[in-house]
Amino acid sequence: MELETARFVLSPLGVDDIDAFVDYRRHPSVAHYQSSTTDYSRADAEQLVAEQPRTGLPAAGEWLQLAVRRRADGTLLGDVAVGADPVQPQTFELGVTLMPSVQGNGYAQEALAAVRDQLFASGAHRITMQGDARNAAVLRLVSRLGFRHEASLHDADWFKGEWSSLECFAQLRSEWVP
Ligand SMILES: CC(C)(COP(=O)(O)OP(=O)(O)OC[C@H]1O[C@@H](n2cnc3c(N)ncnc32)[C@H](O)[C@@H]1OP(=O)(O)O)[C@@H](O)C(=O)NCCC(=O)NCCS
Repeated sequence: MELETARFVLSPLGVDDIDAFVDYRRHPSVAHYQSSTTDYSRADAEQLVAEQPRTGLPAAGEWLQLAVRRRADGTLLGDVAVGADPVQPQTFELGVTLMPSVQGNGYAQEALAAVRDQLFASGAHRITMQGDARNAAVLRLVSRLGFRHEASLHDADWFKGEWSSLECFAQLRSEWVP
């Protein structure tokens, strides 16, 4: 899966991305609402890269990590994760991370929109996103992308030592405006 947008090229995360990937994944603000922690290691990233699906789209239950690289010089800026639902066909979940220094420029919106469009164009039926209810940046982002709010799960997730609430969003292919 390789995509181009006005400012980026997206393609599967590779061995050459590992140093930069680990660097921003360890940043406290990046790890705050994600399952990874500030001690995310090079070995963790090597395992992630080694386990990447080899085919275009992830198969049921698999996650594909797409690197978001600056088009002009290939610099890694962040990543988009594409997960295929383990049970439901043509159903995907998206996640996104940007290194802190490039946040606030619409990059995540541009990268996610490209992945969402590609998934729907390839026959996806439903795409979901979810975020910690305290993660205001991701909630704004998901709304800007036109995802529909489906549920608030109150104190539903035992996360980093406390109960946290989740906001759940979805978009159907029938709701998508290409
Ligand atoms: C979630 C995350 C990717 C959002 O990043 P972001 O930079 O806020 O999102 P975008 O790239 O869409 O940028 C939107 C911001 O850029 C601004 N912006 C500037 N130029 C813009 C442009 N050309 N187009 C759109 N927005 C633009 C918008 O006004 C918006 O600012 P606001 O949120 O203060 O209103 C980022 O906070 C992050 O990586 N967090 C850590 C990882 C994480 O928690 N991920 C969520 C797990 S799903």
